[in-house]
Amino acid sequence: MGQAQTDTRELTEAEAAAELAALRARIERANAAYHRQDAPEITDAEYDALKARALALEEAFPALATPESPTRQVGAAPAEGFARVRHRVRMYSLANAFDDDEVADFVRSVRAFLGMGEDAPLAFTAEPKIDGLSLSLRYEGGRLVQAATRGDGQEGENVTANALTVNDIPERLESAPDVLEVRGEVYMTHADFAALNARQAARGDKTFANPRNAAAGSLRQLDATITAARPLRFFAYAWGEVSAPLAETQFASIQRLKALGFQTNPLTVRCATVPEMLDHYAAVEQQRATLDYDIDGVVYKVDDLALQGRLGYRSTTPRWAIAHKFPAETAWTRLEAIDIQVGRTGALSPVARLTPVTVGGVVVSNATLHNEDYIAGRDAKGQPIREGRDIRVGDWVQVYRAGDVIPKIADVDLMKRPEGAEPYEFPTHCPACGSEAIREEGDAVRRCTGGLICPAQAVEKLKHFVSRAAFDIEGLGAKQVEALYADGWIREPADIFDLEARYGSGPRQLKNREGWGDKSAKNLFQAIEETREIELNRVIFALGIRHIGESAAQLLARHYGSWAAFRSAVREAEDRQGAAWEELIDIDGIGVVMAESLVTAFAQERERASIDRLAERLTITDVAAPTAEGSPVAGKTLVFTGTLEKMSRAEAKARAEALGAKVSGSVSAKTDLVIAGPGAGSKAKKAAELGIETIDEDAWLRLIGAG
Ligand code: IVH
Repeated sequence: MGQAQTDTRELTEAEAAAELAALRARIERANAAYHRQDAPEITDAEYDALKARALALEEAFPALATPESPTRQVGAAPAEGFARVRHRVRMYSLANAFDDDEVADFVRSVRAFLGMGEDAPLAFTAEPKIDGLSLSLRYEGGRLVQAATRGDGQEGENVTANALTVNDIPERLESAPDVLEVRGEVYMTHADFAALNARQAARGDKTFANPRNAAAGSLRQLDATITAARPLRFFAYAWGEVSAPLAETQFASIQRLKALGFQTNPLTVRCATVPEMLDHYAAVEQQRATLDYDIDGVVYKVDDLALQGRLGYRSTTPRWAIAHKFPAETAWTRLEAIDIQVGRTGALSPVARLTPVTVGGVVVSNATLHNEDYIAGRDAKGQPIREGRDIRVGDWVQVYRAGDVIPKIADVDLMKRPEGAEPYEFPTHCPACGSEAIREEGDAVRRCTGGLICPAQAVEKLKHFVSRAAFDIEGLGAKQVEALYADGWIREPADIFDLEARYGSGPRQLKNREGWGDKSAKNLFQAIEETREIELNRVIFALGIRHIGESAAQLLARHYGSWAAFRSAVREAEDRQGAAWEELIDIDGIGVVMAESLVTAFAQERERASIDRLAERLTITDVAAPTAEGSPVAGKTLVFTGTLEKMSRAEAKARAEALGAKVSGSVSAKTDLVIAGPGAGSKAKKAAELGIETIDEDAWLRLIGAG
């Protein structure tokens, strides 16, 4: 340490927070070096001094003491990685548009949602989409108190100490709202990236594939002094929690951020029409090659913040913005082999193994081939794609990357086809378990019929189970799951929760396995314990049932509220008729395909038993319908029918849901309230027959306080 330390009484809480974050990072790094790499970096005395200082700060500022703090850990601190931070306002991502028509559709959908005519003025901002990683900076009383990565949007990593080393990130703000969360993109310029890679190479350290990876790798350093040595930059373009609005429009808010001392992107403009938006897109695309940083599109945002507020959000993206992506980058290379991967629902997915080639700054050696039709040169309807050219092992193929997604094969060069190349024969049996793989009518995908006996499906299900949006068990990633499955320690999700009882002590112990130690085994058991109590929606998603993704799981959890209610409803719906089935398919956003898949999973005895074993080991927390404080419609089931005149049907529905109501498409005995506009027909009639309260649009607006 060697530095004089400021008396803790002389520090502000923000200063203490920053120092503590740096200390924790150093302690954790020292732990990692000591435990995992067997190469202590500092002496025991230095280590003790770091911990003592952290403890002193936590005692002086109890609000800063967290349960994850290394000072609270038994023995040496474990926490591999950063402390987690819950975002007070979720960090959203963006929906994409890939061509002009999709942009026009987006603008139309905004107008329709807002019930605006074609000609009513509606302005958008257009700004470059920076290809970096997003960061949320929280200022309290004008001081930076926390910086967090996006993570899954709800929870990110605390990288405060690292953010403090970035030049573009002010530590203090003059005349800012008391609480201000500034959001934007951390990135690295091309020049800085090249120089960094040259330095890395000269030292024999790993180099980075592109500026974005370099920026991510630099920000997420446990040792903030490493981040400090990396030339990171930051553009501000959004905000989270604010105690007072920045301005009335998007454009003016960005200007305000600039006035506060942030870098904002100079290619940001305001557009009044779709042609203006598209012109700006073309202009930015023209300039792209001359910019010293990577951008991958243009983001359009509704300028008026009051309208943004009305438009609101879907589960992960705002309705008021869209990213217009630049066309994908492409390259040609040789297809060396086609491998088949088996997914968690049994889908056989062909993967292209390629001679490595650089596509848009990233080395690509694998790409998806989608399914057997795609390889054969036809689409799901049997129509030719690539003019019917099939893809064969040995062919020259064109690879492209669109955004973050897995690379794809666009085309094949028949002139370069090697002599004797044979059409690819898609396997009819699962390469993992040998069961027959069949293709059901109307399904583009061939699936293994092995179910739970197929090891590939079982492992993929487990990987899904521990993934971020599901159980997110720290220390139990895809690799660990594979190894533990291979040795029979974990066969199904329930086994994870028996791991400590079975392998915490005794002759076969986790800590004695290769790659594990006393500390990491303890940490894993603790991480597992922490997820034993878990929200219903996460459990439903984690089951990995086909067609039941994150948002469907959310809808089901909200609708049924508890595990017991959900499970019995799905069992009752098994006959695909009757009230339980009707209720299930009546949930807005749950289609027949999803419902079928769900009841099928629970109808299979082995699968159901496996799910029940899991549920027995968990405390599944109920999901309350989102109750807006004092909402008159919280928990009620509403039906809109007829024409609404003051707001579009979509907005009415979004408003009702935000107030905690369920919106259904049909009237039944479960309906609490019908809102009927002019032209209401059979639904209003049915409501009258059932004696359900029916009101008009004005009464509805008064009810929700919008009239
Ligand atoms: S706005 C609520 N604006 O793109 C909307 N995002 O694909 C929040 N990004 O996670 C995002 N430039 O990391 C916005 N000018 C820009 C952006 C931008 C880059 C990133 C951001 C976001 C991702 C979504």
